[in-house]
Amino acid sequence: MRILPDCFSSGCYNFQNYTTLDRSVHTMIVNMRNTYRHLAHDISELQLEEHLQFVERLKKLDDRMYCLVRDNSGRDIFSVNIQDIDLDKNICNWGFFKIEKCNSRAVLRCFLDYLAVFTPICSVLGYVRNDNVKSIFIHKDLGFEIKEVFDEAGETLFVKELKNI
Ligand SMILES: CC(C)(COP(=O)(O)OP(=O)(O)OC[C@H]1O[C@@H](n2cnc3c(N)ncnc32)[C@H](O)[C@@H]1OP(=O)(O)O)[C@@H](O)C(=O)NCCC(=O)NCCS
Repeated sequence: MRILPDCFSSGCYNFQNYTTLDRSVHTMIVNMRNTYRHLAHDISELQLEEHLQFVERLKKLDDRMYCLVRDNSGRDIFSVNIQDIDLDKNICNWGFFKIEKCNSRAVLRCFLDYLAVFTPICSVLGYVRNDNVKSIFIHKDLGFEIKEVFDEAGETLFVKELKNI
């Protein structure tokens, strides 16, 4: 079961499923994602064709969703995704990156608000590298709490409860 529509709005942001985007937008997404690859789990350079194949697969998968975020003037500003959606436990992981100058926390707050109100998700998990100071700061500021520290992997797992059922 898909838990998010292809396009939705929350606050002054519009969230658009990657599967609905043009090739030119995907080119931009791949370029941005590659500028941050030193912070990703997989640090290898992503190729456009590989990304487009992944987006094709996304059309058939309902355990994950990737969104491009646009502001109310239509600028592409952010990317946020959820994955490992488990509807028995009502949990998922998330990830995100900034594309253009914007208020990252406001975008993410609007996304979490939407998840809390319109989906069955109750907890969001975020795996963050211990040297990713901005992301750690943002998770704490959004009300995430440390769930586990993986010293060997150099990562901290953050969790936020969206609602109690
Ligand atoms: C993570 C990301 C979305 C943050 O967005 P951003 O808009 O650049 O973040 P900000 O500039 O608002 O920084 C966030 C906070 O970290 C703080 N911060 C930045 N560098 C810091 C440092 N060296 N020490 C302590 N705090 C620091 C900032 O002060 C800011 O808080 P403030 O606005 O209250 O001052 C963006 O950097 C990004 O896309 N990174 C690459 C992808 C990524 O890391 N994704 C998360 C994976 S878990």
